[in-house]
Amino acid sequence: MFKRRNFLKKSFLGAIALSTAATACQSEDTPSGEPEPLNNSNPNSIAGTPVVIATWPHEPATAEAMRVITESGRAVEAVESGVKVVEADPDDTSVGYGGLPDRSGVVTLDACIMDETGNAGSVTYLQNILHPISVARLVMDETPHVMLSGAGALAFAKSKGFEETNLLTEGSKAAYEKWLADHQDPAVDEDQHDTIGMLAIDRQGNISGACTTSGAAYKLPGRVGDSPIIGAGLFVDNEVGAATATGLGELVMKTLGSFLVVELMRGGASPQAACEEAVRRISEKHLAGMSSPPQVGFIAINKKGEHGAYSLTKGFRYTIYQGDANKVLDSEFELK
Ligand code: GLY
Repeated sequence: MFKRRNFLKKSFLGAIALSTAATACQSEDTPSGEPEPLNNSNPNSIAGTPVVIATWPHEPATAEAMRVITESGRAVEAVESGVKVVEADPDDTSVGYGGLPDRSGVVTLDACIMDETGNAGSVTYLQNILHPISVARLVMDETPHVMLSGAGALAFAKSKGFEETNLLTEGSKAAYEKWLADHQDPAVDEDQHDTIGMLAIDRQGNISGACTTSGAAYKLPGRVGDSPIIGAGLFVDNEVGAATATGLGELVMKTLGSFLVVELMRGGASPQAACEEAVRRISEKHLAGMSSPPQVGFIAINKKGEHGAYSLTKGFRYTIYQGDANKVLDSEFELK
């Protein structure tokens, strides 16, 4: 059975990030004996690499990533190529082309990527570029920086040969105009977004990840979510595993969720247990005052290719390509 105190204690032994949790453990009566292993597993999880996993139903994207891996690509090339499928899809209204705009009608993009060496690149508040993930990759590979934002990110992209293009499709423009007519309240719409986060392990056993989004629909202009924040929307540690997030980015940022998941795995947690703990932190600490709980979901893989997935509310699904099977699965969730 899952025991929270033991969970935190064991995590502390291996995780520098959990000093607050450790304090809680030390001040409580800890049961005697060995902590129980943190190995509650996802019933669909099996070990095995190569593997590609992505938030939400995105089989064409995971298929593209696995194609790259099969043709001897690095995991970082696979995840970049995989999420580009979704960035270019006009029917996906939360990522790239076709993304729903902010409340001034402008589509803004956030993306980040991490490779097996721990290198990272990110762009925030980027406009008019079809593939923000590829700009993030160039930030990682060709600059001394990790993150470029707004006009600077756009200037960098153009200097690398990216062309500006209008990302607001007729469908997203019509949805925005309807929202303008129906919703004049100043609150950020919490229901209208998700993200593609993708993790992969290649034939060499190396792990990489990518995360890309147009962010919360009808957000305040200037808002940046979790997706381009290394450690929030995505984190990769080639010694341990990787995690990525989807859903209301403000909650993921407040918990540095993907870093937390990886650090919990470093401490011995299974990917499933780690995802569950990250969701519970949000559930216990950050839902006060919300009229209805928003969605947040995590997926994770460890070095063996085992995976986990967990969300706050019902409805989160994810795609995994492992062996010969490329399939969409339902995630377990916290708030029943
Ligand atoms: N998770 C995407 C966002 O909140 O922008």
